Parts: sequence; structure tokens; C-alpha cells
Amino acid sequence: MEKQNFTYSKYDIDKDDQAENVVEDDDRKFLEKDYIKNLPYAFIRFTPDIVFNERQKEVFKGMSIKEINNKIYNSLKLGEHYTNQTLSYTIKDVDSHRIWKLVIEPLYKNGLRVAVDATANIGGMTKLLALHGIRVEAWELQEEVYLMLKSNINLYHLNDLVKTHLGRYDYSVEKGCLVYIDPPHEKSFMSSKNDSSVNHFNLSIDKYPMYYIVERLLSSGAKYVLLNMPLCYKYNMEFAVKNNHLIKIYYLGNKNVKNFLITKGKFKPEYWKIIGTAKNVVVESDKYSELYKCKLVAL
Ligand SMILES: C[S@@+](CC[C@H](N)C(=O)[O-])C[C@H]1O[C@@H](n2cnc3c(N)ncnc32)[C@H](O)[C@@H]1O
Repeated sequence: MEKQNFTYSKYDIDKDDQAENVVEDDDRKFLEKDYIKNLPYAFIRFTPDIVFNERQKEVFKGMSIKEINNKIYNSLKLGEHYTNQTLSYTIKDVDSHRIWKLVIEPLYKNGLRVAVDATANIGGMTKLLALHGIRVEAWELQEEVYLMLKSNINLYHLNDLVKTHLGRYDYSVEKGCLVYIDPPHEKSFMSSKNDSSVNHFNLSIDKYPMYYIVERLLSSGAKYVLLNMPLCYKYNMEFAVKNNHLIKIYYLGNKNVKNFLITKGKFKPEYWKIIGTAKNVVVESDKYSELYKCKLVAL
């Protein structure tokens, strides 16, 4: 398991250690083909554990959770809230609820109240965080997508909790925040140190290895960095040890990706020296709500 998640080679922050791991564009095309069929599963649904903010209390007064979810679903418009392409990137409803329960809620219980969504897209993760009362600074590089992000925040009435930024994430952090990075995994999004017009994050950022970016964020005040990475991604162990990175790795049921949660501090048994690798178990059931049930198990 360790070998799947870590590389033991000498680190070199000037070397893009993930260049060979980006996904061929053709591999992604199938995702975009039929994605609109997945619309009912893409947008996050309200669940009973979500505590309404003042605006939501007003707008959704007297409505059941089912009615609210239907209202939102019936309001979704192609070109305003999503396109085939943006939908293929956004975290699905069920995956977002699982990531909340297993990864982020424990941090919330530990006092987390502010986050940066460095790669917001149409707002899958931004909405999840804000629906649970976390204040979010959401960054999106592409203007067309950014406008959809704003429409989605309006649709869920999360304006008071989310501040959006059109442009490249500038590494700004608030003390104690979580930074979520869900970079594009495709070749076409490769960033380049020499070409400032190509400024997408990738598995590396500005061709710096992701572990170096994590260190930069943690040492400027972020408490946690959460990475959504493809299965082939490996974190540099030597750098992690030298910089006291404590890492938990989660396989949350989505077959193509894994999450790295990184914080800094003194070694604790649940962190990576005894790797906190975990997996979720879906309870088999016909009921949609049962899909959210999951628990961590050691691999
Ligand atoms: C995989 S999507 C994120 C999906 C999102 N987490 C969700 O669940 O809806 C990656 C997004 O990051 C944006 N992006 C890439 N590099 C960026 C950067 N340097 N700053 C801000 N946004 C960036 C891309 O335009 C794309 O929309």
C-alpha cells in the first residue's frame, strides 16, 4: 500500500515529478459523451444533517428536503449551471457526502470553519463546504466556468458564505484553513513555467511538485491541504518526513481517484508512519439515501 502512494526517490523541487502521470485527453472523452445522463446524480442534494443558513430558512420555508432537492434540480439549466464538460469534472453528490462524513466533518468538529477551494469549477466542493457552514474562498480560472460557479452558489443560497475569485489561485490562505486542490488531470491542462498563458494547475503546479506546494500553503498558515489525485499519484516520502507532513490517504469509492489529507506536526500514530489508509463501504440498498452510508475500514 505504501508503494502505491509514496515515492522514495530523492526529491528535487525544481523537477516536475508528475509529468508522466497526467491522463491522456482521449481517456477523458468518454466521460463527456454521456455525462448529462448523470445530471440527477451530479448536483449535491440537501440531506437532514445540513443546517440551513438564514437565507435558506427564508427561501425554503415550509418545504421538505425532497421538495427542496426537486426545486433545485428543476432549476438547473444547461449553459447556466453546467455543461457536458464541466459536469464531468465536478464531484458527484454521493461522493461529496462521503468525503464530508469521512474526511472533512472530523476537521469541522475540531474547529475548522474556513476553506479555500483552489480549483472550484462549477462548485461541487465549494457547495459541500458552505452547506455545512464553512466559509469558502473559491477560485476558478476559466471565465465561462466561473459564471456557472456563481449561478450555482446563488441557486443554493450560499452567497453569504462563499467569496468567488475569477483567476488563478494566488496561494493566499487564512490561518487555520483547509485548502482543497482538485486539479485537472489531463495533458491539455499541463502548466508551464515558461508559458504564462497556460496557467492551469495540474498534478504539479507551475511545474513545482505538489508536495512543495503543500509545504508552501502549510507554512503560510493553512492547517490542512486536501488533494484529489489520480490513483497513480505518489507523494515524496523524503520531503514529507523532512517537513513533518502528516498524511492520511483515503480511497472513497470513486475508482479513479484518491485523496491525500496533509497537515503538519509531530508524529501521531494515526498518521502516515503507520499509514492511515482507509476505504469506504457502501451499504447495498435500493434506497437512494442509503448510498450516503459509509465507513472507514483499514485496507
Ligand atoms: C477537476 S476541476 C474541479 C472540480 C471541483 N472540485 C468540483 O467538485 O466541482 C478543476 C478546475 O480547476 C480549474 N483550475 C485549474 N487551474 C487553476 C488555477 N491555477 N487556479 C484556479 N482554478 C484552476 C479548472 O479551470 C477546472 O475548472
